[in-house]
Order: sequence, then structure tokens, then C-alpha cells
Amino acid sequence: METMAPPARAFPWQLPAGFPEPEVPQNNPMSAAKVRLGRHLFYDRRLSGTGHFSCASCHRQELAFTDGRGRAIGATGARHPRSAMSLTNVAYNATYNWADPSVTRLEEQALNPMLNRDPIELGIAGREVEVLERLRSDGETVAMFEQAFPGETISIDGITRAIAAFERTLISGNSPYDRYVFWGEQLEDAEARGMELFFSERVRCSECHAGLNFSGPVRAVDSAITNLTAMAAKTDKPLSGEFQSEFHNTGLFDEDGAGAYPAPNRGVFEITNRAEDMGRFRAPTLRNIEVTAPYMHDGSLRTLEEVIGFYAEGGRGSGRSSPLKSKLVSGFALDIQEQTDLVAFLKALTDRGFLTDPRFEDPGD
Ligand code: HEC
Ligand code: HEC
Repeated sequence: METMAPPARAFPWQLPAGFPEPEVPQNNPMSAAKVRLGRHLFYDRRLSGTGHFSCASCHRQELAFTDGRGRAIGATGARHPRSAMSLTNVAYNATYNWADPSVTRLEEQALNPMLNRDPIELGIAGREVEVLERLRSDGETVAMFEQAFPGETISIDGITRAIAAFERTLISGNSPYDRYVFWGEQLEDAEARGMELFFSERVRCSECHAGLNFSGPVRAVDSAITNLTAMAAKTDKPLSGEFQSEFHNTGLFDEDGAGAYPAPNRGVFEITNRAEDMGRFRAPTLRNIEVTAPYMHDGSLRTLEEVIGFYAEGGRGSGRSSPLKSKLVSGFALDIQEQTDLVAFLKALTDRGFLTDPRFEDPGD
């Protein structure tokens, strides 16, 4: 005889207008108890080798969950080769990290900072038992864990699942741009002119920073993504509809005339060892980009003006003539007014409410 599972209670997402429901792995359904636990753990300094560091040390809400540094610094002071990424709308990413097509779930991603030895981020590797003991000896954490995962004891697996659930709630969709697309509010004149440029044939930012997230392809529950199509219609921009992340070489480096980037920041090449993947990175989200300086995987561009200058030049230094550079980074001329307008549009992607939302703050002890 077949027994029916009780119907799963729908999670109250509180999605902004026009936003599709994020895809959630079957083995980690959303629940309020899990999100609550995940939020505590995200800010919990006991979740590190030293006991003095947390996810939030490198992912600060007021900076759209970045750290304001060119390159991150871990629990033991070790420098990460790359910049901490924004957690804005990570629920929708098809892949995670700057250039790793193999990490496709937040649950897996969270293991990197916890267990990495080179570079050390949270520095838990080799001290798992100690870290778990710390958490298991705290009554409040035990109670929250029991509510999130009834009958399970505190484990690394449960920790990553709870943190992933919390991360999926970090949804930002109330910028002036969203209010223009979905609420019919006006943009400032400069912002509107900048938007035209952003989506234009001449400047081409939207070829790579596309769709809902102004990033590589996103994924969501209803793959037809009707809402995204509505957004595209408003901006005359066709959507690729692909769910694989795309990776691009933007011409930041060419160290040998064949397109080499400096190790260990050689992009997808670090994973695949295929020559054509040298220097290929994911186009990250441009939402809240105003507050996440400095920019690029190595933090080597300080301001949005510098970033636009970089694209206008068609790359940087010898990278401009790299044989591996994307055809979409071919350079363009902007006058001062147009440059100001494009910056104004990028700033119209800032969602102040997200940066101060009490649901995402440090819950305290
Ligand atoms: C030492 C600073 C540091 C700590 C601590 C840290 N991160 Fe990160 N985070 C980074 C860096 C650097 C990257 C980019 C990694 C890369 O591409 O190599 C990143 C990337 C990410 C991404 C990928 C975002 C995207 O759009 O692809 C997520 C998600 C994330 N971190 C979540 C977490 C969580 C959860 C924790 C705690 C368990 C955490 N981070 C702890 C620095 C840190
Ligand atoms: C060929 C695809 C492509 C095009 C076209 C493109 N970008 Fe990018 N963008 C990327 C990639 C890939 C990165 C990450 C590169 C890296 O770190 O090596 C990036 C990074 C950025 C960053 C830094 C993001 C961060 O979190 O540090 C900004 C800002 C940005 N782009 C804005 C723009 C603007 C504005 C335009 C149009 C003038 C544009 N991009 C055109 C692919 C593209």
C-alpha cells in the first residue's frame, strides 16, 4: 500500500515583484527553522578554527556581503588570491565562485570556506571535532538545530544545509531599476540614458551581464522564466535561456602573448587545464555593484569609472591584444557625459533596503 507524504508546506519567500522562485535541492527543502539556524551560523565566530571568524567577516551586509578588500583575508591572516564575492541573489546562480563550473550548489560551496587549507578561510579542516563540540555544548544552538533537523545531531552537513537555506533568502530586487521595470516608476534622466548605453550594441554590457541578475545565466523553479522575459521585453534584450554559466576572458592579462593569466588566478583553466579556458571568469552580478568595490576577481580596478574605462579600452595593457579575449570586449568610445550616465545606471541597481534588511543582520547571541 502506498503512503502519501504530507504535502510540503510552501516556504514564504517574500519575493520582490517579478522575481521567480529559486530552485531548491530536493534534499534540502526550505524551512523557517533552517533559515534561522543558518543565519546564526553565518554570523557565528565559533564556526572557525580560531573561534574568532565567521562567514560575515568576509561577507558584510552593508557591502552587499563583500568585504571592501581587493583580496580577502582569512581567519589566520592568510591572503586569499581573490576578492570576496557579493551574496546578492546567490539563490539564482547556476554556478558558484569566480571561475568554477563544478560548484553548482550553495551546500557544496559553503564547504570551501569552511575546509579550505590553501588559502585558509575559516580554517576548520583538521579541527572539525573541536568546532562541532563548541556548537554541541551550546544549548541555544542545539535547540535551533533540533528544530531545523529534528532527530539529527549537529554535523558539518547540517551546518552547510542551514547556511545554504539562509543564503537563498538573500534576495535583492527593490532597486530604482526594479521599481522602473516592475512598478512603472521613473528613472532619473541620467540613469535612463545610462540604461540605453548598457543595453546598446555599441557598449554591450548586457551581452554578458544579462537577465534578472545582470550576470551569467540564472536558474529558477519555473524554467520558462516568464518574468525574466517581461524584463527583457522592457529592455529590448533577448535572453539566452541557458542555464549553464558562461565564462569569459575580458582581457585583463596576457603574460606570454598566448593569453596567460597569472597563477593561481587563471580562471576556469585552474579547474579544467584546457588552454581555451585560460582567463575565463563568470560575469558576476552587477546588482549592488556600487557598494562592492574594488572590482574584478583580483580587486585590481578601484572604481566603476575605472571599470568602464577598462572596457572602453577593450581590456588592459597586453591583455587588450590577447588571442583569448572575448570578441564582446572590443572597446568603444564614450564622452564624459555618457560615462557619467553609465555609472548612474549602475548605481540605479543599488537596493538600499537589502543592505539594511533586519532579516539579514547579525542576530546577536
Ligand atoms: C576569508 C574570507 C571568506 C570567508 C571567511 C568566507 N568567504 Fe565566501 N567568498 C570569499 C571569496 C574570496 C570568494 C570567491 C572564491 C573564489 O572564487 O575563489 C567567496 C565566494 C563565496 C560565494 C560564491 C558567490 C557567488 O556568486 O558565486 C558564496 C556563496 C560564499 N562565498 C559564501 C560563504 C559562506 C556561506 C561562508 C561561511 C561558511 C563564507 N563564504 C566564508 C571569501 C570568504
Ligand atoms: C565578455 C563578457 C563581458 C562584457 C561584454 C562585460 N562584462 Fe563586466 N565582467 C565580465 C566578467 C567575466 C567579469 C569578471 C572578470 C574578472 O574578474 O576577471 C566582469 C566584471 C565586471 C565588473 C566587476 C564585478 C565585481 O564584482 O567585481 C563590473 C563592475 C563590470 N563587469 C561591469 C561591466 C560593464 C559596465 C560592462 C559594459 C561596459 C561590462 N561589464 C561588459 C564579463 C563581461
